[in-house]
Amino acid sequence: MRTTFLASLSLTLVMLSSAHAAPPKQPRAPGIESPDYVWEAQSAEEAQLLKMKGDVARGKIAYQVCQGCHKPDASGLPDGTYPQLAGQHTTVLIKQMSDVREGRRDNPKMFPFAGKHVVDTQEVADIAAYISSLPLPGNNDKGPGSDLPRGKTLYEKDCATCHGDRGEGNASKFYPVTNGQHYRYMVRQIVAIRDGARRNANPKMVRVVKNYSASDIGAVADYISRIGLQGKAAK
Ligand code: HEC
Ligand code: HEC
Repeated sequence: MRTTFLASLSLTLVMLSSAHAAPPKQPRAPGIESPDYVWEAQSAEEAQLLKMKGDVARGKIAYQVCQGCHKPDASGLPDGTYPQLAGQHTTVLIKQMSDVREGRRDNPKMFPFAGKHVVDTQEVADIAAYISSLPLPGNNDKGPGSDLPRGKTLYEKDCATCHGDRGEGNASKFYPVTNGQHYRYMVRQIVAIRDGARRNANPKMVRVVKNYSASDIGAVADYISRIGLQGKAAK
């Protein structure tokens, strides 16, 4: 009797203390700053996820934890703090979520809602299937529109081989859809990729944008923000 009481008391105490515990901190895995960095070196979970079949209906429910930031239609925020996710390739979504879960892409804001402690492997597959099935919202943030011819020239010369003529990316190569993405989000990401702050970046893209000035980045991101497939499927 007494031991049962003590056992349940200590269980209650454990529950109380874990209810008040801070969420676990995002882990940190080696990224582009480390000499032996291999882009898209898959973790065990990512390799497993890429073979799984996600369920769109279950994904819609599991996505609820994401929508406070990324919005119910997965359009993100025009100011670029939260990216648009709708219509993104499942492979890209899985890679990016895995990189956040493993700590190769720093995102302390999102980690408490997307780490392994709250979202399990099957849910990641389901969420990716759901988000990828959503149409491009078509209301994305655009740039000032003042340097579009230069943006087009830069895009066709330096970016289209990977991101596609209309920003459709490449699912099997993990190249993201950039079509319809918010201008200010893209500017921030290109700067982060250029300067090494996005630690899961593709080294070939880093080389391409290494010498880009702020105005080059603005011009090319503005161009991408307008090559519309709006309302249509991204791929
Ligand atoms: C507290 C806000 C927040 C929540 C909740 C959140 N995210 Fe995010 N997410 C962000 C931010 C901020 C970024 C952009 C980080 C950056 O600038 O590098 C992001 C980026 C992403 C990206 C990368 C997109 C890209 O274009 O590379 C994916 C994928 C993503 N989130 C999926 C999710 C999923 C799935 C969930 C739910 C399980 C989720 N997020 C929950 C804030 C959030
Ligand atoms: C060698 C292929 C390649 C080239 C060339 C390339 N990119 Fe990328 N880009 C990528 C990959 C791969 C990613 C995602 C990196 C990762 O895995 O996190 C990316 C990410 C991005 C992102 C962030 C997307 C997101 O959803 O977070 C933007 C914006 C972008 N690229 C724009 C450009 C622009 C503009 C150019 C040309 C100046 C360019 N890229 C050239 C492969 C490339």
